[in-house]
Amino acid sequence: MTNNEEGTRPDLRSAHWFGPHDLTGFVHRTAIQAEGFSGFAVKDRPVVGIANSWSELVNCNIHFRLLADAVKRGVLMAGGLPLEFPTMSLGESLMKPSAMQFRNLMAMDTEESIRSYPLDAIVLLGGCDKTVPAQLMGAASADVPTIMLTGGPQEPAVFRGKQLGVGTDTWKYADELRAGKMTQADFDELEASAKPTAGHCSEMGTASTMTSLVEALGMCLPSTAAIPAVHARRAQAAEATGRRAVEMALTGGPKPSEILTPEAFDNAITLLMAVGGSTNAVVHLLALARRVGYELQLDRFHEISERTPRIVNVRPSGEYLVQQLFNSGGISAVLKELSPLLHRDVLTVTGESLEAGYANAPDPDGDVITTLDKPFDATGSIAVVRGSLAPKGAVIKRSAASPELLQHRGPAVVFDDIYDLGRRIDDPELDISEDSVLVLRNSGPAGAPGMPEWGMLPIPEKLLKRGIRDVVRISDARMSGTAFGTTVLHVAPEAAVGGPLAIVQDGDPIVLDVATQRLDLDIPQEEIERRLAEVKLPERKYNRGYGRLYVDHVLQADEGCDFDFLQGIPGEEPQRLPYGLMSGWQGGW
Ligand code: FES
Repeated sequence: MTNNEEGTRPDLRSAHWFGPHDLTGFVHRTAIQAEGFSGFAVKDRPVVGIANSWSELVNCNIHFRLLADAVKRGVLMAGGLPLEFPTMSLGESLMKPSAMQFRNLMAMDTEESIRSYPLDAIVLLGGCDKTVPAQLMGAASADVPTIMLTGGPQEPAVFRGKQLGVGTDTWKYADELRAGKMTQADFDELEASAKPTAGHCSEMGTASTMTSLVEALGMCLPSTAAIPAVHARRAQAAEATGRRAVEMALTGGPKPSEILTPEAFDNAITLLMAVGGSTNAVVHLLALARRVGYELQLDRFHEISERTPRIVNVRPSGEYLVQQLFNSGGISAVLKELSPLLHRDVLTVTGESLEAGYANAPDPDGDVITTLDKPFDATGSIAVVRGSLAPKGAVIKRSAASPELLQHRGPAVVFDDIYDLGRRIDDPELDISEDSVLVLRNSGPAGAPGMPEWGMLPIPEKLLKRGIRDVVRISDARMSGTAFGTTVLHVAPEAAVGGPLAIVQDGDPIVLDVATQRLDLDIPQEEIERRLAEVKLPERKYNRGYGRLYVDHVLQADEGCDFDFLQGIPGEEPQRLPYGLMSGWQGGW
């Protein structure tokens, strides 16, 4: 079977590779035929790329080969050619110093793989925390029609008859162990039960938050975000995603730039606040918006948080796990209840409005999902604070904080970096009380580098033994979406670039007032200016390779920690070279 110009749909992007009846078309078609496909496979047929973040280093995405097979089945049923390709994969648990340091690298990998190959539509397979924003960012910049299939939450772990949120409850049991209230043997048993199946973390941590936001943004099929990883309906959703990808390829859209509008970001932020979602989503949405040329601001999160009640009862802000949320109607049911607060007519990957996707979802059950007029919290989960300690802002997850600490004045106990913290946090001589404010610096995007999830500083052992489980903590780091406590995060600018966190000294009074959005170093302004003028910036941590690229170009948390050269409108398609100018006959297209 041969292919030729007349036999190929000229409106398909892949036709530029496979259509021409010349030597380069020959080369491209033989590359496919070398894999055992016939020429028929690319004749008049859309090619759907499946960007797979499967990896044995990423347990959360370990079922993605099965999901990719189901996507392929759907693509073939609809008459397309599925071609799976690997992307970098970012595992939250094993990757050091922080998976966040490599989010932009995975985004670049995804973007350039999409752009440089003959693909008419893309299915993104992401799950673990950073894989989803990285793939979305890359796809947004490539701007080829894209639909996402997320991996789903793992089955809940059970320990001593109680369901565990793998992150949230591990932090709590770790404190119990340090306080001497749990034996090491019990803790070892917890370790063996903590992660029972494939899939991402089972509470509303960063992964579940991001996969939920994918649905609110309109980048996946409706009602798919919360389906458990090992549930048959997830494979069914994968098959349906493959079928829809072929339709998107044939109609040339919608493209990410048509879906990721300012209104879509408003919808995603509204959902973020209503589910008690992860603070990490703030950084990822800021970065994603800038990929499509929308200068989303931190203050927009606060504005939407103020008008959005929390209506979902899932850990760490609530009681249940995402599996129970799925059983209660999933994200579609939450969006339906939030409908008065949403831009309902925005376009989604279905080609229809967001509202059309959730219209048939069940009503709130009043337990896992409640109604807007009887919320679990009157306002959204995340607040933005600013002041002399954070001139460009910081965030706090107020729904997972101690209410009595949301307005607080106390003396600073300062740790210069994570190593200093490790050395001294449990020192019996540490001068600290429940009124103290723990400060960790040099843990931001450029300083750590990679802005790791160090923001939930451990409570010092001497306070744990007195029964104290929370104090105010402030840092330029992030915090796991499964974590909790009165933790002010993402302080910008960070200490390593000369932000005010660099000048805090032990004993300085710090004022946090979430109601008035203030975070201040309560010392005279002249003293602040004097100390800032004397700040010595730390030495750059990397001098070569990706680390060097990262520290030289990463933006601050209030801009999403993307690279400065990756923001903006979609990149350019590769150019078809005239035959005579090709450097090698394989090189043109
Ligand atoms: Fe992958 Fe939590 S470790 S989602």
